[in-house]
Amino acid sequence: MVLEEIAASLMWFSYALIPCLLTDGVAVLPAPQNISVQSTNMKHVLTWSPVMVPEEIVYYSVEYQGEYESLYMSHIWIPSNWCSPTTGLECDITDDITATVPYNLRVRATLGSQTSAWSTLKHPFNRNSTTLIPPGMEVTKDGFHLVIKLEDLGPQFEFFVAYWRREPGAKEHVKVVRPGGIPMHLETMEPGATYCVKARTFVKAIGRYSAFSQAECVKVQGESLPLALALFAFVGFMLVLVVVPFSVWKMGRLLRRSCCPVVVLPDTLPARLSLFMAPRETCSQTQKCKKWEIHPETFPSSKCQLLVALQ
Ligand SMILES: *[C@@H]1O[C@H](CO)[C@@H](O)[C@H](O)[C@H]1NC(C)=O
Ligand SMILES: *[C@@H]1O[C@H](CO)[C@@H](O)[C@H](O)[C@H]1NC(C)=O
Repeated sequence: MVLEEIAASLMWFSYALIPCLLTDGVAVLPAPQNISVQSTNMKHVLTWSPVMVPEEIVYYSVEYQGEYESLYMSHIWIPSNWCSPTTGLECDITDDITATVPYNLRVRATLGSQTSAWSTLKHPFNRNSTTLIPPGMEVTKDGFHLVIKLEDLGPQFEFFVAYWRREPGAKEHVKVVRPGGIPMHLETMEPGATYCVKARTFVKAIGRYSAFSQAECVKVQGESLPLALALFAFVGFMLVLVVVPFSVWKMGRLLRRSCCPVVVLPDTLPARLSLFMAPRETCSQTQKCKKWEIHPETFPSSKCQLLVALQ
């Protein structure tokens, strides 16, 4: 009887204690699950499943431990730059991962004064396992220049750009391009030809390449139009060169003929024929006219009149 009563009061005591443990205990808040790292093109993101507490905002904290800390200072964990704390379900740890060594990562949830246990990544993360995907690129032509613009992926990336003229037996050229985001001249193109370009990334820090991107091709305008234009311009130029002086000369002749008709002297005229030339105003008075040397080309042009007088 007495034992039963003691047992009953113990039961009651433990029932009363459980809620206290639940509300006050450290282990009440479950730890975030499913933590993993998604890493593409050296951008690393830690993700986890949410800790669900209805109508409450749960905070998460992320910490990391590089090889050095885990080997020589195993008690040291460093809070992540961007996620201490965060309400999101992912954390960009790119800035935390600064060496190509294994990193331990852990995350825990916090709600008010409650804190969950740490949840640690199963296998340490090494950035050399990042997925490298071909760079985005834009191939254009600027006149006869083949121009490529590559996605800006940050200072760790180099780009290997391969390009070739699309024809049988064409040789492939490779250029190493350092920064992304800036249009770059690759080649001066032959008129009428098609050029193709593909690119891949190289990350020196991890010694790995991405695959090549799909080739992108551009066709340079055929020679027909530029040649026709050139021909047209040349013909125009020649016309100007020939026609203008000719018409000037012709006009000059016409003008000269209209004001100073050339007198063609018949062969049958007496040998003692003299030519006189005088200004127009005085020409009516032949006696005042002056004897002129006969050089047909040097006839004064406009204000003149040719007089023929038989002596
Ligand atoms: C972990 O992920 C799996 C599948 O991605 C999912 O089924 C499971 O519910 C997740 N666990 C938690 C605690 O959210
Ligand atoms: C990453 O580096 C480790 C040694 O640091 C090596 O064992 C592992 O094979 C490398 N992984 C890749 C994908 O290169």
